[in-house]
Amino acid sequence: MSDPIVYLNGEYIPLSQAKVSVLDRGFIFGDGIYEVIPAYAKHPFRLREHLARLNNNLTATRITNPHSEPDWETIINKVVAQQDIEDQSIYLQITRGVAQRDHAFPEEVEPTVFVMSNPLNVIDQAIFNKGVSAITLDDIRWQYCNIKAIALLPNILLRQAALDKGAQEAILIRDDEVTEGSASNIFIVKDGVIKTPPKSALLLPGITRDLVVELAETNGLAFEETVFSQDELSQADEIWLTSSTKEVLPIVSLNEQTVGSGEPGSVSRKMYEIFQAYKAELKQGKQ
Ligand code: PDD
Repeated sequence: MSDPIVYLNGEYIPLSQAKVSVLDRGFIFGDGIYEVIPAYAKHPFRLREHLARLNNNLTATRITNPHSEPDWETIINKVVAQQDIEDQSIYLQITRGVAQRDHAFPEEVEPTVFVMSNPLNVIDQAIFNKGVSAITLDDIRWQYCNIKAIALLPNILLRQAALDKGAQEAILIRDDEVTEGSASNIFIVKDGVIKTPPKSALLLPGITRDLVVELAETNGLAFEETVFSQDELSQADEIWLTSSTKEVLPIVSLNEQTVGSGEPGSVSRKMYEIFQAYKAELKQGKQ
């Protein structure tokens, strides 16, 4: 197994040597937050936006941000530079730190900071063309889904339930509202109009989602941020997922029913192309 250099609490060390205490509150309570940031040709994707979300999550969980934005950029770029791979997936985690087990916040504890980077499985044209299948499930998560918390047990159970049924993703429904996927945001297309649920505490404000919204607007595609029901989802002409690792990924089968023609639709194709053009610019350092 490769042994990449990772960042842990101020040190750049091989992954095999990176150790944290079993008393870390991330281990004991899942008390921490994380980010997943793609890097294309070693250029981190929307880094400022990821760091802004990170800061919002730290504020929401009352963990002091241990680094300034320039310091974060230095750490992330250093970890990325150490890898001999062009397209990477950076994983960054901050926990409240190490303390005797007690639900109450410990006093004067330094947060644990960990950054690693792995190869990114890029969604190429062949994967895009094939699309994926999904099922709908009840959104059993808590009421702060806008926080990118490391405590992901509900998401894990939902995703595994989808995999057990031969589907790639679980699309979550709360009070008949479609919220998002277990690890992705959701878009539908109906009569040529792209729709995605508005940001709220019910879903993660995805960085890929925000870019797709921006690209729809700048490219003059009909777009609406709106709540939609499970019925509207089932009757959509096209459906796609977005995330840092899935990019723009069409769903061609939902609950074993074909979506649209059973192939990625024309609006999904257009968005995929626009997204790839954005990536191509990023690779040249132009974004
Ligand atoms: N997950 N919603 C949920 C619940 C997610 O976990 C994710 C991403 C997204 C998409 O956010 P973004 O576009 O910023 O990646 C939406 C990451 C990739 C993960 O947990 O691995």
